[in-house]
Amino acid sequence: MLYRYKKSFEKIAMGLLSFMPKERELKKLQQTMHIYEENPDWQLFLWKKGDDFVGLLGVEVGEETYTIHHLSVNPSHRGYGIGHEMVDKIQDIMQNRRMLATEETEAFLKKCPVKKGGL
Ligand SMILES: CC(C)(COP(=O)(O)OP(=O)(O)OC[C@H]1O[C@@H](n2cnc3c(N)ncnc32)[C@H](O)[C@@H]1OP(=O)(O)O)[C@@H](O)C(=O)NCCC(=O)NCCS
Repeated sequence: MLYRYKKSFEKIAMGLLSFMPKERELKKLQQTMHIYEENPDWQLFLWKKGDDFVGLLGVEVGEETYTIHHLSVNPSHRGYGIGHEMVDKIQDIMQNRRMLATEETEAFLKKCPVKKGGL
């Protein structure tokens, strides 16, 4: 299940975000977290499996589109479909908006079924 980010999830969110190739440096990571915390259009979600948060998905929401900027899964849980499940659920949450990718997320998103046009 996808949970909306809140401040008490900050450490686990930063850990998961750091798996994104461009977020490895602490300073960049902190800047990105700041964007999600300060800007209501930037929304962060965490995927919980059992008692643990093992996945992260971050979107920038526009009026008719949303862009998936960040998508990561804890390395111990990769290859079990969590990435696909998160993309499936965010499409439900974003309803009729069209999904867009960044250069970083495009290759994976192209592998995911698209429900309402987009990409
Ligand atoms: C990308 C990522 C989120 C996928 O999570 P996951 O839970 O392992 O994904 P799923 O189990 O749903 O899907 C696995 C499939 O995605 C493919 N895949 C993994 N990373 C990929 C990528 N960057 N580009 C394209 N395909 C990718 C796998 O090869 C596998 O393909 P197969 O089913 O044909 O064997 C995870 O590998 C990750 O956290 N990577 C590091 C962060 C990152 O680089 N993010 C940017 C890309 S979104």
